[in-house]
Amino acid sequence: MTRAMIDPARVKIAPSILASDFSDLAGELRRIAEAGADWAHLDVMDGHFVPNITFGPPVIAKMRSKSDLPFDVHLMIEHPERYVADFVKAGADMVTVHAEACTHLHRVLGQIRETGAKAGVVLNPHTPVNVIENVLDLVDMVLIMSVNPGFGGQKFIPAALGKVARVREMLVAAGLASAVEIQVDGGVDEKTAPACIAAGATCLVAGTAVFGKPDYAAAIAALRK
Ligand code: DX5
Ligand code: ZN
Repeated sequence: MTRAMIDPARVKIAPSILASDFSDLAGELRRIAEAGADWAHLDVMDGHFVPNITFGPPVIAKMRSKSDLPFDVHLMIEHPERYVADFVKAGADMVTVHAEACTHLHRVLGQIRETGAKAGVVLNPHTPVNVIENVLDLVDMVLIMSVNPGFGGQKFIPAALGKVARVREMLVAAGLASAVEIQVDGGVDEKTAPACIAAGATCLVAGTAVFGKPDYAAAIAALRK
């Protein structure tokens, strides 16, 4: 495993709204901002790419009017290229697309950046990291899934750690280590977070581990330890 020089205190925490109270999104966004969240992670699911359905641009636009947090939008949808402009218009600061959902990944990442938003690429647990070797200069973030996407509250898949370390090695070799975030999503809690950070993660997504706790500030602080 690569030795990473990430200071845990500086790791970004992106609570996943999927585990929040959907009937009070404005309140939940305010509470995570006050609790020290860096970004809000918004999980968009279409019932095709993943077997679950969440929300789309109209809901994000309403959330945008209630929060100044950067919106990190994780698209678990087929044909994301058809909707990039709509999500950016709704208020996405970062749009992350699955490599598995993009036949023309290089083109889609360029399309996201052309809108002025940041671009992220995400890999499912079975997808090897070498598929992103030729697009590293087009991304602001690489997201390594540590569960199969579709649902919150699943068990962390430890093989994700080796992938995080390999992505970090690739970024260091390309001279991009300080420019590109490495995010981990799925089953991240206070037990699994330290290994993610040790492997090189700079941003952790956490749904259940934040919204499932009574004290969001304490939950976020525990992930940074
Ligand atoms: C899963 C989503 C995750 C999910 C994480 O498909 O991409 O962002 O909300 O939830 P936890 O942290 O509960 O595993
Ligand atoms: Zn997610």
